[in-house]
Formats: sequence, structure tokens, C-alpha cells
Amino acid sequence: MKEKILRLKEKALEDIKNAKITKALADLKVKYLGKSGEVTELLKGMKDVPNEEKPAVGKLVNGLRSAIEEFIAEREKALKEAELKARLEAESIDVTLPGKATRRGGLHPVNLVRNELIEAFSGLGFKVFTGPEVELDYYNFQQLNIPADHPARDMQDTFYVTDSVLLRTQTSAGQIRCMENEKPPIKILSPGRVYRSDYDATHSPMFHQMEGLVVDKGITLCDLKGVLEEVCKKVFDKDVKTRLRPSYFPFTEPSVEIDVSCSECGGKGCSLCKGTGWIEILGAGMVNRVVLENCGVDPDVYTGFAFGLGLERIAMLKYGIPDIRYLFDNDIRFLKQF
Ligand code: DAH
Repeated sequence: MKEKILRLKEKALEDIKNAKITKALADLKVKYLGKSGEVTELLKGMKDVPNEEKPAVGKLVNGLRSAIEEFIAEREKALKEAELKARLEAESIDVTLPGKATRRGGLHPVNLVRNELIEAFSGLGFKVFTGPEVELDYYNFQQLNIPADHPARDMQDTFYVTDSVLLRTQTSAGQIRCMENEKPPIKILSPGRVYRSDYDATHSPMFHQMEGLVVDKGITLCDLKGVLEEVCKKVFDKDVKTRLRPSYFPFTEPSVEIDVSCSECGGKGCSLCKGTGWIEILGAGMVNRVVLENCGVDPDVYTGFAFGLGLERIAMLKYGIPDIRYLFDNDIRFLKQF
């Protein structure tokens, strides 16, 4: 029996020493000390030991039991420490590594252009004035000197809501609303969405315009030219050249179209400017006397200039976007470039 106890002790100590993980150690605990473990079996065998030997053998078995318990506890402590150390090393965070970048949202190119224009014009004293997108025919056409049978209506394919209500085709409607509400001097910018039944690479049924209106005593075409030259330099390039070309709009007289020198070829002529060296960017003119009168402004005392530009067109020119539809597809691969 003594022999058996000694062998068992040696074997148990050896096994415990060899346990590499806490799980293996837990298994050993069951194997030796569990309900049907080897030490427990030994204890059960005590009944066959002759009475006179029982105290000595009992002592040995108990000694074996506490030796194994102690050894397991020691080994367990060592293994747990090693496991913790290994885990800490494996999971350690290097705080000096660069963080994972979260992609930031950005402004839409049309908004970038709008903000840039507002900033440039604000510097010259313009204030923002906004009007409704669902507009009366009265403001969108009639008061702008475009009566019902006027051929200029054909230039803008209009979405009508009723005979007299429509989706505004131009921010020019805001000019009338402003002049009806405010007395000169007036110096406003009116950005917003406009709608026309039109759809191809350069036209979208919804697009954005920005209107400008200045009314005061002694305003001339020179003021118009000076203001727009200044803004074009800010928005395009300080060396950009501008030119005025005669045009026609019912609400301005005289009317002009403003071109900027082509940024692609510097004026030599290329496919972007169709060989002319110039790119048309906006319509403008001196506010027609009829329009001033319609709004209760005396044209013999006050004069004014107005202009209207398409924000998509400016964005396309500025960023080299070949098709207006890219601006509205909401494709993140396109949008994240701005
Ligand atoms: N409303 C015109 C259009 O949509 C643009 C325009 C031209 C606006 C001349 C103006 C202007 O204020 O004076 O085509």
C-alpha cells in the first residue's frame, strides 16, 4: 500500500508539472481528487488495510491528498500568471499607431460653388434673399415682362401645377418678390432650385440658379461689369478675362451674356470652349424699366442691374465634370472627390 501511495504521488506530481494549461490542470484535479479519482479510490481501499496499519496508511493517504492539492494550487497560480501575461501581450494596444480613419462627409460640388459665390458677393455687400420653389406665373413670368403669349416662354419648358401656379423656371422670380417688399437701395443674391422639363448631358429637370439684383440711384452697366469681373476672378482664377456679349432677355434692357476666358486653353481655343476661347457663364443686363415700374420702383430715379447663373454649369466648368447627371447620381466615388 505504501508503495502504491508513493508511486501515485510521483505520477501525480509528474502529471501536474507537465500540465501546460489551466484546463489540463482542472482535468488532473478530477483524475486524482474527484469523486472517482485515484486518491479517492485509495481511500475507499482503506477498509482492506489491517487495523494496526490504518493510522499510518491513513496519514500517508491524507498527506498524499494535501500534497496533490498544494501542488495543483501552485501550478495553477503559475499557469494563470503565464496565461494572463501571454494574453496581455497578444492583446496589447500600440497607442502610437495611427488610428483607423473614418471617412468624413463633404459638401456637394453644387453647394461648394454656391457657398463660394455667396462668400464672394457678400464681400461686395450682397445679402441672400430666397423665394418659393412653387411659384405663381405672375412672379415667374408676367411681372418679369413675359406675358402669356410671349415667345420667351418657349425657351423654358415649364412644369405647371395649375394654369397660374408652376415650379419656378428661374430664380428671377425672386427679383420681383424682393422689389415688392423692399425699397431701394437693393443688393441681393437669390440662390435656389429651379425646374424645367429638360434632360440631357447638360440639362437636368431640377437644377440650381443664383440670381443677383442691384437697384439704386445711378447704377450703370459699368457696375454690372465691375462686380461680375471681381467675382469671376475670385471663383475661377485671378487672371480670368471677362467679356460682355449682346443678348436678349425680356426683363433686362440692354441684355448681355457674360463669357470668361477658357481655363482649359487660356483663350487659344479648344474643345471645351468649342474653339472660341470663351465660355458663356451667365445672363445679365440692366433691369428693364417695365420691370421696375411693375414693382413700383420709379425708373426715372432708380436703375439696376440683374444677373442669373446656373450653379451646375459653374461647377462643371470649375471641376471639369463632363455630364450634369454625375451631380445627381449620388455615387460616392464621384462625390468623395470634392
Ligand atoms: N433667368 C435667366 C435664365 O434663366 C437668366 C438671367 C438672365 C437672369 C438675365 C437675369 C438676367 O437676372 O438679368 O435664363
